[in-house]
Amino acid sequence: MIIAIDGPAASGKGTLARRLAAHFGVPHLDTGVLYRAVGLSVLRQGGDPADADAAVATANHITPNDLSDPVLRSDDAAQAASVVAAIPAVRQALQDFQRDFAHQPSGAVMDGRDIGTVIAPDADAKIFVTASVEVRARRRWSELQHADYAPTLDEVLDDMRRRDARDSGRTVSPLRPADDALILDTDDLDPDEVFARALAHVEKTAKP
Ligand code: DC
Repeated sequence: MIIAIDGPAASGKGTLARRLAAHFGVPHLDTGVLYRAVGLSVLRQGGDPADADAAVATANHITPNDLSDPVLRSDDAAQAASVVAAIPAVRQALQDFQRDFAHQPSGAVMDGRDIGTVIAPDADAKIFVTASVEVRARRRWSELQHADYAPTLDEVLDDMRRRDARDSGRTVSPLRPADDALILDTDDLDPDEVFARALAHVEKTAKP
């Protein structure tokens, strides 16, 4: 069983994906981490994430060891990820790993931007998790209040708008719901309600 979860930043898709994976006892992949690892690695080499040659060379050498660095969660890594993610050859370089993960015998839960549309269009259940940019920025801002550097709500909102525009406006695999995805707007839903609705959808659509 493949469950594909897509949506913009801070929509709650990661939390939902982890809960579904635990519920069904299948592996989970947060595919954003792959793009973050490429973006961060280019930054650490002193490069520009928009430099396609540097980004592709890095994407070709990403290993599972590169995916657990806590700095991957930083905002710099997120912005760099969104820039490298707009380069078609970077997406291509990361595709086989994601498709293999999706099609492993145990099944998989994957979250990202293009799982239901490009990586696993054959997924048994597709869910598009979204929320208004204001609600998502406020969630991210609250999470960052304990960080060493806590940005203002306006800074987080600006960053999120920029990232949304890049992720939705790019020509290759833009963020959009698959035609057969359940759309879950989480503005007024708590994580338990999101999980309950998603689970009902999976149980209805996924093959036993
Ligand atoms: O989900 P995230 O915030 O960790 O993703 C970081 C960036 O990576 C996001 O701005 C866009 C990109 N991304 C993508 O283009 N496709 C994916 N499947 C996952 C992430």
